[in-house]
Amino acid sequence: MTTAIRVRALANLALVKYFGKRDARLNLPAGPSLSLTLEPLETVSELSLDASLDADEVWLADAPASPSFTERVTKLLDIVRQAAGDGRRARLKTRNSFPTAAGLASSASGMAALALAACKAYGLELSSDELSALARRGSGSAARSVCGGIVAWYEGVEEDGRDSIARTLLEPGQWDLRVVVGLAASGPKEIGSTVAMERTRTTSPYYGAWLRAVHQDFEDALAAVGNKDFTALGEIAERSALSMHAAALAARPGIAFWNAATVSALHLCRSLRKSGVEAYFTCDAGPQPKFLVRPEHQPQACQALRELPGIEGVIECHLGKGALLLP
Ligand code: DP6
Repeated sequence: MTTAIRVRALANLALVKYFGKRDARLNLPAGPSLSLTLEPLETVSELSLDASLDADEVWLADAPASPSFTERVTKLLDIVRQAAGDGRRARLKTRNSFPTAAGLASSASGMAALALAACKAYGLELSSDELSALARRGSGSAARSVCGGIVAWYEGVEEDGRDSIARTLLEPGQWDLRVVVGLAASGPKEIGSTVAMERTRTTSPYYGAWLRAVHQDFEDALAAVGNKDFTALGEIAERSALSMHAAALAARPGIAFWNAATVSALHLCRSLRKSGVEAYFTCDAGPQPKFLVRPEHQPQACQALRELPGIEGVIECHLGKGALLLP
């Protein structure tokens, strides 16, 4: 057995959402997206190769992982094994510091960590663009968690996806943005993002409008990041999230990720804004509301969200680094 490679990767929160693929096998997105890599939402993984194993062995928080998660891990490892010409199976022990599969992007940090660990373990030397493209094969949003700070994921035009990669626009120290995550329900979500976005793409009459909006939102978000214009970025983030959920709600059958606390959080966010606390609402494929705020407004936003009925806790986040090796 080889010595274990230890890595760490953070989850990310999309301000301009990825929701729809142009190629499902390669996880090529139908549009670009823009995200924040968030401390302290971390995955720490340990990977070792073991020639005596017949199949990959995957542990999630000290328990054997589900067959579906193990299968996703094996799919990504197979790509690396093939490129490295090394068929050895692996043992992966992974752990998230936040609720798994509850709309908090655990697949993004998990697959970014796995891509990095696998390259090191199998001896593949990849550039950061290539690593992002590899992580994307595990989960689309993982392409972004390879990078730190404020990140753009370009959809690319190549059929093999080599130009569908994410890159850092601003490093964590270059703009201090904060996110308050509300924990609206801690159980696993009812429908995963992969299935939800495919159903939306194939059945929602709003999907075309959603995609057109994404391209404009992305251009506008790049400008807002370039100018460090918080108000513009916040408005784009809120409208991108609402448009994504509108398209999903219109799918057949409709997909409703929100619960009562999520709806209350949207209203709370807007009333905070009226009272001078500039918070913007976003939400992914689950019920957890997230508020984008300036550092000086974080305490008030946090307290208000924590006191909202149906919110079981909050996590205060700031920009963090891309995937990295641990000693
Ligand atoms: C709503 O990356 O989890 O969080 O590529 O099928 O693994 P797959 O989907 P995933 O989708 C994330 C969707 C989202 C929006 C976003 O993060 O951009």
